[in-house]
Amino acid sequence: MYNTFRMSNKRPKIIKPFNAVIFGGDGDLAFRKIYPALFHRFVAKQLDLDHDIFAITRTENCDKKFYGNLEKFITESIDYELDSSLIAVFAKKIKLLYIPVHTKTAYAKLKKYLDDTPTRQCVYYLSTPSSVFGEISDCLKRCELINDLSKVVLEKPLGNSLATSRAIHSKIAASFTERQIYRIDHYLGKETVQNLMVLRFANRLFESSWDSENIDNVQITVAENLGVEKRGDYYDQSGALLDMVQNHLLQLLCLIAMEPPSKLEANNVRNEKLKVLNAIRLFDENSVKDGTVRGQYTRGNMEGEKISSYLEDIGKYESETETFVAIKAYIDNWRWKDTPFYLRTGKRMIKRYSEIVINFKSVKHNVFDSNGDIPGNKLIIRLQPEERIELVQMTKLPGPGGYRYEPISLKLDYVDFFNERFPEAYERLMIDILRGEQTLFMRQDELDAAWVWIESIVNSWKKSKQQKILYEAGSWGPGDGILNKNHEWSKSIKINENETL
Ligand code: BG6
Repeated sequence: MYNTFRMSNKRPKIIKPFNAVIFGGDGDLAFRKIYPALFHRFVAKQLDLDHDIFAITRTENCDKKFYGNLEKFITESIDYELDSSLIAVFAKKIKLLYIPVHTKTAYAKLKKYLDDTPTRQCVYYLSTPSSVFGEISDCLKRCELINDLSKVVLEKPLGNSLATSRAIHSKIAASFTERQIYRIDHYLGKETVQNLMVLRFANRLFESSWDSENIDNVQITVAENLGVEKRGDYYDQSGALLDMVQNHLLQLLCLIAMEPPSKLEANNVRNEKLKVLNAIRLFDENSVKDGTVRGQYTRGNMEGEKISSYLEDIGKYESETETFVAIKAYIDNWRWKDTPFYLRTGKRMIKRYSEIVINFKSVKHNVFDSNGDIPGNKLIIRLQPEERIELVQMTKLPGPGGYRYEPISLKLDYVDFFNERFPEAYERLMIDILRGEQTLFMRQDELDAAWVWIESIVNSWKKSKQQKILYEAGSWGPGDGILNKNHEWSKSIKINENETL
């Protein structure tokens, strides 16, 4: 069933012919995200028909399965009406190449194709485990397949510690310059996340009260109803902290907390984000106990269905890995002194929803009655499933008999208002890569700073032997009294939609 959205009829600027080489070209991410993203931009007439996409596979003779999957996943991604024969036209632009190893001989076929179009930019998309990023970039260099127009796109996880992330970087940096490297964080490509910049920097109203003088706390929540699906092996090495906080939640925090860049240009924005990352207070053995919660889901129920526990899902019964994490973070700088940023994310929560809530302080003095403080304003930025902005403000209830007031929301529902299809995050990111626009991609020094903070948590958890708290799959996460007892701050961060409104 299609939505009634329309593709925007604004004519996008066409990208010049290019080559894209997708390593891990028959992987889950390629089918679910990369090809559909390119397809939708192709339908939007943003990609020149002359482009070529090379899907690299390590499985021999898998053409039938590959093209079958390609059609299936693209069809599933379509959320508007279109001429379905375009799928076949697009599929013809994708060549499947069998390259099982990273040697000059194995790359010969690819080289032959790419050498035919030497003046085109070539994007190498590494959607493989990061352990082979070094080998791939080294082989590309030895085959003389890298020139000034080449770019490399790196999918996370980029290591699992500061040391491993740096080691990966030093291998890539032997073949590509920082200007050519695009580290994907797909949260930065989401429409509402992009709107954060406009909301903050194009509205004087918010920017003038965007500090600890006026804001009581900030809450960033990414709740997922999915479990670990087929990614148990990877997930068990990462946990919620590395899988979600190290990248997506920290990037959201940066966009909320950074100083206005002088210009919306990649390095200006990245410099400001870096300052925030460097100012987040590190945890130690003592502060980690009060400032963080680790949870893991047990068996439960979701929409009437029985759901297995995390341990059953991964088939390892002694795993201590967290599938939920909540963190009370502080940014030690002038603007944010003593303002807590609550970050929380978890798998198998009752529903999928992500939002940022800016809780403003209450007015300094209540002129209406003496019964305490008037609740503060809230700015709620809902990222998913709906894309919405709400400003909660005190409003007088109509009628005589004195001043009675209640918090009422001014809502801007993106989809209703614009009635236009929003490109998926990967669509925007692919176009930015092709255009050479790096603002939405992380620089290595940002990554390093994020790792330093994350490692302060990982190491402090180890030292303090912080235990995980179990929560039922399909619930609002660890809570039910346990958190309230242990953490005075948990009441305000309990994952409960009604409480954040
Ligand atoms: C990925 C994580 O980066 O983001 C996944 O590895 C997670 O575990 C996903 O499910 C969430 O993305 P989204 O866009 O569905 O919120």
